[in-house]
Amino acid sequence: MNLLRRLPPLLRALLAQALAFAGLLALAGLGLRFPGYVWVLLQTVLVVFLSRSLTLSPRWAFMQAALPFLVRALWAAPIPAWVYLALFLAMVLIFGGGLISRVPLYHASEDAWEKLAGLLPEKPGLRFVDLGCGFGGPVAHLARARPDAFFTGVEASPFTCLVAWLRCLPCANARIRLGSLWRTDLAGCDVAYAFLSPVPMPALWAKVRREMQPGSRFISHSFDVPGETPHRVIPVKGRESARLLIWDL
Ligand SMILES: C[S@@+](CC[C@H](N)C(=O)[O-])C[C@H]1O[C@@H](n2cnc3c(N)ncnc32)[C@H](O)[C@@H]1O
Repeated sequence: MNLLRRLPPLLRALLAQALAFAGLLALAGLGLRFPGYVWVLLQTVLVVFLSRSLTLSPRWAFMQAALPFLVRALWAAPIPAWVYLALFLAMVLIFGGGLISRVPLYHASEDAWEKLAGLLPEKPGLRFVDLGCGFGGPVAHLARARPDAFFTGVEASPFTCLVAWLRCLPCANARIRLGSLWRTDLAGCDVAYAFLSPVPMPALWAKVRREMQPGSRFISHSFDVPGETPHRVIPVKGRESARLLIWDL
């Protein structure tokens, strides 16, 4: 059970739905017959119980409870099966990279881009990497602001990466790469920037300390590194508590 609790929330949610559904199949196998809405209620009760047992948060349990009702409502709707497949594929292509590492897709504000530009040291040939570059806004902006420096964006979601690549195409000093930030060597970077979520921060900090050279700079948008006080904090426009946290290594 402890092993299951360590799975990413999405996998735990799918597992809870599958186990609850297996429970319903077992009941049906025993010859029990109920009206459709009773099966939906049973699935809901079971899935909420299982979700909480798998330590999913109340927010997840709520979404889990809503899913059987949604499926029931859509069951008879005249929507072709390929629409669901297309929606699923679109979700994977746009958000897939962050599902396992539990990093959603959202964007730094233009104010954050400006302030990032002010944090780039005046070093010709400076190398900057955006770890999880999303649609490439920061990389494109910085590449235009600093033609003397080189900018790389790494993005794990294929469609998101394609948009970033197209956006940075006019900038000769910017490069967008499809891949995982965990496979990106930070040894040659003067500045590494990440806007992720609280979940990967301890592992990312360990990677930064392992790979980045003395004199380089790590900037996290909004998310702390537990137990590591940043050298500077600069508030930026955007969501509440949006800020840049800067560590000089
Ligand atoms: C919050 S967005 C940040 C976008 C951009 N850096 C910005 O500041 O506006 C985080 C991005 O990281 C990507 N991501 C999550 N895990 C990743 C990983 N392991 N490797 C590469 N990209 C990842 C997500 O797909 C998402 O596009």
